[in-house]
Amino acid sequence: MRNVETFRDLQREATEWRRHLHENPELGFQVDNTARFVTEKLASFGINHIETGIAETGIVALIQGEGGDGPTIALRADMDALPILEASNRPWSSKIPGKMHACGHDGHTAMLLGAAKYLTKTRKFKGCVALIFQPAEEIELPSGGLKMVEAGIMERFNISQVFGMHNSPDLDVGRFALCDGPIMASQDDFDILVKGRGGHAAAPHRAIDPVVIAAQIILSLQTLVSRSTDPTEALVISVTKLKAAEAYNIIPDQVEMAGTVRALVPGLRDFAERQILATAQGISRAFGAEVEFKYIRSVPVTFNHTEETNLAVKTARDFVGSASVDDNIRARMGAEDFAYMLEARPGAMIYVGNGSTAGLHHPAYDFNDDALPYGIGYWVNLVETVLGA
Ligand code: NI
Repeated sequence: MRNVETFRDLQREATEWRRHLHENPELGFQVDNTARFVTEKLASFGINHIETGIAETGIVALIQGEGGDGPTIALRADMDALPILEASNRPWSSKIPGKMHACGHDGHTAMLLGAAKYLTKTRKFKGCVALIFQPAEEIELPSGGLKMVEAGIMERFNISQVFGMHNSPDLDVGRFALCDGPIMASQDDFDILVKGRGGHAAAPHRAIDPVVIAAQIILSLQTLVSRSTDPTEALVISVTKLKAAEAYNIIPDQVEMAGTVRALVPGLRDFAERQILATAQGISRAFGAEVEFKYIRSVPVTFNHTEETNLAVKTARDFVGSASVDDNIRARMGAEDFAYMLEARPGAMIYVGNGSTAGLHHPAYDFNDDALPYGIGYWVNLVETVLGA
């Protein structure tokens, strides 16, 4: 096991890479310059099997171990930024107004590059490591992780297990956290259109008021979680958009509503789809209105598999000590598109501590470079643990 001091030289280099990426953020699948930067670095380390342009701008690079035959495991980083105007006031702040690395994917990319450089030199493992650099983690369907899986990377590169890492500002630098089973929620979104009959606001009896109907639907949806699901199973239903008339004296013809569903149990997605529609339809019919409904399945539950979680926990404990690893955190209700890779292959996602920065997706966020050697060290040690010769 290599301790964090092993990676101090790489930390300095990775800090330069990270700040360069931070200054030059790109969004979604349009991460061309980022992908070019990553590809050039990988080639400069002596990696000769690099495939680019997967799912538009994704990259998979292979490092062969010198320990003989063995399986191929994948390590994944994401490369995209967010449409936010940066307010971190760092010397390396975004040069592009309205775009910034507010989720630390610049750090994720730099850490995987650091691990690539180290592993290429040492190659003390059997089998093969596939480095996955994906675009478009932040966007909605179809996201970069899904598109890379659909492009067949798991089959083509013979990947048997897949590992992911995300920074956590809530966790001190030098600490790791994860759990077996669901670690992040699924995300689905829905649209409801309540079609009543508009009219003069002074004569509601001649109209079918979709505003009152929508209000009853919103309140009833809250009882799906509080009254109809097992309280030990996590489900969130939030109505987030509402559009009715734009005048004081008009009852509109229709009301548009939309919202999001987050769940930790896959079966609750079916429940939510079925019951949101039944609730909206039942209430609307009672008042003589009609409903149009759309349920959009997005990211699945990020599900850590037991065997790979145990490998991740062992690696982190051996690396930073048991006291700095929490292996039983509560799942978070946000969604993460690494979930698609965990549907395709067994694996585990871990949080690496990134304390003393603003929260994720905040304009003042900046990845904490002190975390770089921990992320690099985790990757290197994970490879040497899982593919120990
Ligand atoms: Ni992120």
